[in-house]
Amino acid sequence: MLFPKTIKLAMLPTPVEKWRRIPHVSDDYNIFIKRDDLTGFGLSGNKVRKLEFLAYDAIKKGCDTLITCGGVQSNHARATAIISAQLGLKSHLVLFKEEVPKLDGNLFLDKMTNAKIKYISSEEYEYVDEIMEKLKKNLKRKGQNGYVIPEGGSNALGIWGYIKACLEVKSQIDSLGLRIDKIITAVSSGGTYSGLYIGKKLLNWKVEIIGFNIRETSKIATQRIKSLVQSYKENFKQKFSFKEDEIKVIDGYVGKGYGKSRKIELDLIKSVSKNTGIILDPVYTGKAMLGLVDQINLGNFSKKEKILFLHTGGGFGLFPIKEKFFSRSSIPKGA
Ligand SMILES: Cc1ncc(COP(=O)(O)O)c(C=O)c1O
Repeated sequence: MLFPKTIKLAMLPTPVEKWRRIPHVSDDYNIFIKRDDLTGFGLSGNKVRKLEFLAYDAIKKGCDTLITCGGVQSNHARATAIISAQLGLKSHLVLFKEEVPKLDGNLFLDKMTNAKIKYISSEEYEYVDEIMEKLKKNLKRKGQNGYVIPEGGSNALGIWGYIKACLEVKSQIDSLGLRIDKIITAVSSGGTYSGLYIGKKLLNWKVEIIGFNIRETSKIATQRIKSLVQSYKENFKQKFSFKEDEIKVIDGYVGKGYGKSRKIELDLIKSVSKNTGIILDPVYTGKAMLGLVDQINLGNFSKKEKILFLHTGGGFGLFPIKEKFFSRSSIPKGA
């Protein structure tokens, strides 16, 4: 398969491991984990795979500034800021906030790498694409050449990151002599899911890709995935049959809303850390994991199936909410 050119930024391939001692799940279930939380330190998580394609494109087009958007603790914005610093580019981030932001987690790293930040409200965020285009025009007047990356790096070019990741997984499991029936991922902007789906279609691989939406509804997530897949088909003239009913996004685990945590999610993240040493994040993988555990307990997955959970990273998002895991009184003095 011929891929568009990239800049090598991620530590690849990431490992595939058997995942044992998952809380509330019997070890008779066959669960594996793909460690995309190990794509780097500052660049940990799924976004760097997409940004390898997008950053190459930006530089090829003579741009010197990456412009992108997200929530105040956006992993994608942080990865974009770090990559910009790594490549000698500037970065501008348009971030929505509801409260006074804490200088912690991803935002701390944005600042450390000198990203310029424009805060907007969640209402204004509905027009974020226009806001980024306006910013690009303003920068042009100052002699800077901006490259706008949409939310989550999810466009026809960015999703190549997860097409490539799908090939990586297939070759890893083939060389391990493994069979995988289902791949599980969190879904937000939909690029990760779309890339995996296109990858499996191009490989003619029978694996089922199952998403858990962590914001809005599965219907909206499915629409987003559908339009990304269509845009990819149009832009890259690839031939494969696209069936909407093959897009499986399971609803019911958004909880209190995007970026908001419930006790049940935090308890699961904590017990997964304690039992297995895998550190999930509160916004994406923690909710997808709750979905997986619940679906297993509802009997919707069988012990015969081999399931691969994609750990898409996001661990920096834990730091701004650390006091939600441990009440002040439970922290020993001097700790
Ligand atoms: C840690 C993490 N996991 C999963 C996702 C969801 O990926 P996508 O936006 O490609 O659906 C994101 C996106 O923001 C993320 O940061």
